[in-house]
Amino acid sequence: MSHQTIVVLDFGSQYTQLIARRLRELSVYSEIWAPSTPIEKIRARRPAGIILSGGPKSVSDPGAPKCDPAVFELGTPVLGICYGMQLMAQALGGKVEPAPQREYGHATVTVSGAGSAPGGTSRATAVDGGQSYGGSDGGGAATAVADPAALFVDVPSAIRVWASHGDFVAAAPSGFSVVATSANAPIAAMSNATRGLYAILFHPEVVHTESGLDILRNFAYGICGCTGDWSMSSFVDEATARARAQIGNGRVVCALSGGVDSTVAALILHRAVGSQLTCIFVDNGVLRLNEAAQVVKRFERLQLPVVFVDASQLFLERLAGVVDPERKRKIIGAAFIDVFEREAAKLGEVDFLAQGTLYPDVIESVSIVGQSEIIKSHHNVGGLPERMRLKLVEPLRELFKDEVREVGRKLGLEEEFVVRQPFPGPGLAVRILGEVTRARLDLLRLADAIVADEVKRAGWYARLWQSFAVLLPVQSVGVMGDARTYESTIAIRAVESRDGMTADWARLPHDLLARISSRIVNEVKGVNRVVYDISSKPPSTIEWE
Ligand code: XMP
Repeated sequence: MSHQTIVVLDFGSQYTQLIARRLRELSVYSEIWAPSTPIEKIRARRPAGIILSGGPKSVSDPGAPKCDPAVFELGTPVLGICYGMQLMAQALGGKVEPAPQREYGHATVTVSGAGSAPGGTSRATAVDGGQSYGGSDGGGAATAVADPAALFVDVPSAIRVWASHGDFVAAAPSGFSVVATSANAPIAAMSNATRGLYAILFHPEVVHTESGLDILRNFAYGICGCTGDWSMSSFVDEATARARAQIGNGRVVCALSGGVDSTVAALILHRAVGSQLTCIFVDNGVLRLNEAAQVVKRFERLQLPVVFVDASQLFLERLAGVVDPERKRKIIGAAFIDVFEREAAKLGEVDFLAQGTLYPDVIESVSIVGQSEIIKSHHNVGGLPERMRLKLVEPLRELFKDEVREVGRKLGLEEEFVVRQPFPGPGLAVRILGEVTRARLDLLRLADAIVADEVKRAGWYARLWQSFAVLLPVQSVGVMGDARTYESTIAIRAVESRDGMTADWARLPHDLLARISSRIVNEVKGVNRVVYDISSKPPSTIEWE
């Protein structure tokens, strides 16, 4: 069940996760590890290849992240990207210097490597199978014909690439060939094919790099000898078998949030252990219009056994009079734990708690240690496993979000649900500024449903990270018919984002905004004004609270 793996050592580039995702798109399993990972651990994993990511530092900065230079001696192919290239050059005796002209953004790279065929592609035929570097046990002598330009097989001899570097390699280490150049970097790619070491100064993982995926494919398949043994279908079978082995005869409880991750986790566990699994869904009173009913219907259709608890009264009582956003979050988190514990206790002896933790939450690396802490503080079941003395079962720990969606499709989830925008655990409570009351919730639910409906009709839903309505604690004057009104304001928030960490407000068409505004004012009693939020994150956040 162990897949051929390419290990990405993360030196802090904003693109590191993209490298792993691109490889997985190529059906090659990839994991992101911290550069400080001990060499014994890397060796023991027997990776098919190692990629050194980019990073924001200069290799000569004090405190610049480094990896054990023994990675170059493992006999495993290594690809250095940008900072990774500079690190490779520095470690092996080359020269890294500040570039006279920084390259940031588009650059044109000319492949000059050995084996370049005139006119068009740098090599007409692919290298047959993988080249051998003596396996993962050291050694390092090449047994196949080693092509210095193996990264550029079937890649045009001039490509537009995405670059982002201040330093460049002024002299390649001895034994290396220069295989590509660009205007500001005489060494845009270098390799020592006999030792299986390759490096490029630009980012093949970024879509702006032409043939970027081909370069990664050449590394994974042509150089590392990967065969493409990672697929979502095989994942489902393996994850099911793994969960079955972990759980044995134990009993599992799963907190369903109503979102995609916990639903997919529950589906896998249900396949694995059937009736040993009980799911609990808590209606916390701050869900969207008809959401609780839809969740119950979905689980019935999927034949997932669910205990449905309507705890909305309790949540709203505890939220009464509270206006501080962080207090709202804490109250909702604590109330959830109380309700969940009470329900789980009714089940008798339980051994495991299932969570839909995803891969980005578990990566330990330079770039996202800080971010993953933030993500964790959002997890509303935090603290449960320790309090209830439960072991964790996390069947999605290896997956990126898009992979979870694909697994969801394979397990029969409807498309509309699978592509749903994220919804925060504290729900509408953090979209009602001021006190959360039933009346204000009812009002926001209607406005929110109109936003979702119109955004979907206009074909914008999938393009947006999130789009929703916020109820402001502001009343203003309006006129309806002949009468003066003094009513509430709804703000519309719609953002584009890659991961929720940064976001830009969406340039929605004015016609769409006009339809949303007119429907809200006409259909939602108590609202006479609609405004559009044009702030980016940072400095604003996506949610208003
Ligand atoms: P912010 O508002 O911090 O939101 O820019 C970033 C992303 O996180 C979601 N979010 C939360 N999710 N519990 C959650 O489960 C929370 O308390 C929470 N606060 C924000 C938000 O919807 C956005 O996608």
